[in-house]
Amino acid sequence: MGGFLEFLWNQLVFKPQPLAASKTLEGKTILITGANILDIPCTCTTLLRLGLEAARELATHAPSLLILGVRDAKKGETAKQSIQETSPDVAIEIWTLDYNSYASLIAFANRAASLEHLDYVLLNAGIKMMEYQVSNGGHETNVRINHLGTSLLSLLLLPNLERRANVTGTPSSLTIVTSEGHFWVPFHERRRYYTSKLLNVLWTRELAARIDSKEVLINTVNPGFCYSGLHRHESTGIIKIFLWLFGWSNEQGGHCLVDALLEHEDSHGEYVSLQRVLSPSNFVISDEGEVAQKQIWRETIELLKNEAPEADISSFDD
Ligand SMILES: NC(=O)c1ccc[n+]([C@@H]2O[C@H](COP(=O)([O-])OP(=O)(O)OC[C@H]3O[C@@H](n4cnc5c(N)ncnc54)[C@H](OP(=O)(O)O)[C@@H]3O)[C@@H](O)[C@H]2O)c1
Repeated sequence: MGGFLEFLWNQLVFKPQPLAASKTLEGKTILITGANILDIPCTCTTLLRLGLEAARELATHAPSLLILGVRDAKKGETAKQSIQETSPDVAIEIWTLDYNSYASLIAFANRAASLEHLDYVLLNAGIKMMEYQVSNGGHETNVRINHLGTSLLSLLLLPNLERRANVTGTPSSLTIVTSEGHFWVPFHERRRYYTSKLLNVLWTRELAARIDSKEVLINTVNPGFCYSGLHRHESTGIIKIFLWLFGWSNEQGGHCLVDALLEHEDSHGEYVSLQRVLSPSNFVISDEGEVAQKQIWRETIELLKNEAPEADISSFDD
């Protein structure tokens, strides 16, 4: 995997499938971030998002509670209504969070800690900014949201998932959304979206190495190249042509997210793409990648401890 022609070929021939209708999520609490509607002007052909489609699919399998973590409560409520059109009986709660604010992520995780139980977490929210921009706090925006925000939330939600596993005797799951684009990036380039997705893969591998897979199964997923709002900041027309020729629907991307979260017991620390466990990029599995993985972990933990001192992540010290 990872060659550009192979990527295009897979986009054309692979058809992501939904969960088997017989799969039940009865009694499960599931949390998904970035599952609201898109309500801004967009040249894409749909107003939906991958997280929303994953939530819609999960709802049809009757979980006891579905939590949509969203930046804007109103857009979350619209997403909830849209899901309840097909799954009227499922309990859905809208919780706000902003990946760009450590305080918001900590408040969100504290709220999650008060849940009776939490079984599955899909950290899907993300951005793709094409220009180099610095977010508040001084970090490049893609790295701030996609890596630092996701990483902090993964650390803060893990204790809930571990607690649940200790009660049920079966692993809970945490899936972090990456991209096949992590194959195509040298670390030093300035368009940081793909770099941030490489960081997602390295982070997931190191986090998983530190957590018992019998407690929390942790993996990372490529949802495929899909018609969502993600690509709206691309300024060239080429992306529209590529989406038109090769793009999957959000529903198909949602199938990939749900599949990674629920269907791969053998995927601890692994990269799930095309609904199977595949090798991540050559860089990730190289000796250099292993060194980078450990360095990313150390630097991220250090940075989060300095910049979000109120977050209780001391148990993740080396
Ligand atoms: N679409 C693709 O082709 C593709 C390919 C590979 C990987 N992915 C990955 O799939 C995931 C979902 O992307 P998508 O395609 O559904 O993109 P999208 O339509 O742009 O949706 C992104 C979601 O993330 C949320 N989000 C962005 N910044 C946030 C913040 N600071 N705090 C909280 N939420 C925030 C957005 O909420 P707002 O409405 O508030 O902005 C939205 O719900 C991303 O991680 C993306 O990198 C997508």
